[in-house]
Amino acid sequence: MFDPLEKLKEFIRHPSISADPAFKAGMAGARDFVAELLGSIGFKVEVVTTKLHPVVLAERGGDATWPHVIIYGHYDVQPADPLTLWKSEPFEPEVRHDRLYGRGAADNKGPLMTHVAAVARLLERRPDLPLRITFMIEGEEEMGSPSFLPFLEEQKARLGKADFVFLSDTGSPREDQIVITCGLRGLVLFDVVATGAKSDLHSGLHGGVLRNPIQALAELCASLHSPDGRVNVPGFYDDVLDVEPWERAELAKLGQSEEEYREFLGIPAFHAAAGYTPFEATRFLPTLEFNGIGGGYQGEGTKTVIPSKAFVKISCRLVPNQNPARIRDLLYRTVRARMPKDVTFEIVDQHEGTPYVVVPPDRSNTPADQSPVLAAAFRSAHRAIAEVFGKEPLYLREGGSVPIIADIKRVLGLDSVLMGLFLPEDNLHAPNESFNLKVMEKGMLASEKILESLAASGAMRT
Ligand code: BES
Ligand code: MN
Repeated sequence: MFDPLEKLKEFIRHPSISADPAFKAGMAGARDFVAELLGSIGFKVEVVTTKLHPVVLAERGGDATWPHVIIYGHYDVQPADPLTLWKSEPFEPEVRHDRLYGRGAADNKGPLMTHVAAVARLLERRPDLPLRITFMIEGEEEMGSPSFLPFLEEQKARLGKADFVFLSDTGSPREDQIVITCGLRGLVLFDVVATGAKSDLHSGLHGGVLRNPIQALAELCASLHSPDGRVNVPGFYDDVLDVEPWERAELAKLGQSEEEYREFLGIPAFHAAAGYTPFEATRFLPTLEFNGIGGGYQGEGTKTVIPSKAFVKISCRLVPNQNPARIRDLLYRTVRARMPKDVTFEIVDQHEGTPYVVVPPDRSNTPADQSPVLAAAFRSAHRAIAEVFGKEPLYLREGGSVPIIADIKRVLGLDSVLMGLFLPEDNLHAPNESFNLKVMEKGMLASEKILESLAASGAMRT
């Protein structure tokens, strides 16, 4: 059995930034690393090429009557910038105070390694375990998984025979309070690019006769929320469902104080829609956020210029029952109606959009539409997490998005069991990302128990 911490360090040393073509070698390195590691624990590995970054598929095989789990993970990471804010090099992993620092440590290399190590240990102990396991490790998650849908369509006959997907790419609030994520928000992403004059202009010679494209976009952006914190786009909330009482009750068990959360964020006050606590707002409400805005002079000192172009990058998180295509349509219509007519502008689609997902677990009995294997998986996960972490898991929706979960449900018909392994202080997508090594150790134990008791449950395939 390999040393999980050493292997994780090795994994992090490959700078696998999927979005940046300059990191092609890092992507290949991380992918080969995953393929070799899975081969070394006895899996039959296949590197499936796609239009961009390949998917590593690895199978253990076994009897067709055994339960079949697909374990998902991603080997790509977010860009590491701003580099100056890192205390140690992003791709030179370092352990400090029971945490491993490095880009991708938590999202998603650490949690992925947790499951690989759990499987390795389990199969060493139980080489005959009656459980089929397939690893499906992709390399485009951080850029919205553009190749994943065609990949799924292509592999449908084979992967669709599995019972469910098991993964850790979501969070939990504390080391001792693990969450089984039962919903993720959807996403719509687009840019608006505004153009004023055909070239940058001297602001003295021409200032006063035209609308500055920065001003045009600022006016648009300012119109997209109302003062009460709600999104000001006609129809935006039309399809949003009421929150189920059990979800509010479950969330109340979180036991986190609003004041602590406020301090964690470092903000003077919350700004959320009325009627929702901050913890509810991030899970139950849709949003519209500005992810970046730019144009004009950004350097030292001053430059008296009227820029020719300006841009804003916008994303919306969606909640149950909101249709990404419909929301996109409402947004584009609103942008077109509100942009002043004295500038030209273009809306640039950044992603086809991903719907919300829900995987409501039922812990008391097996609803007709839930397969016995999935029900057994939820039960196993509940028990294993309670045993290993000392507290029963909470069943919460999450504010983030993992677009492939909806694709997997749609194309393969499979639900996913999401065990949240990263913590708020892990700094995902930010400088000094890290993974808590105690969570890793316990996560390994929990994953091992989940898979072992699933095999033992005798849950027969439907
Ligand atoms: N692991 C995250 C998703 C996540 C973050 C879930 C926090 C729960 C809590 C994933 O890698 C991610 O960042 N996804 C992107 C999707 C986008 C790139 C299409 C996201 O949510 O912004
Ligand atoms: Mn992730």
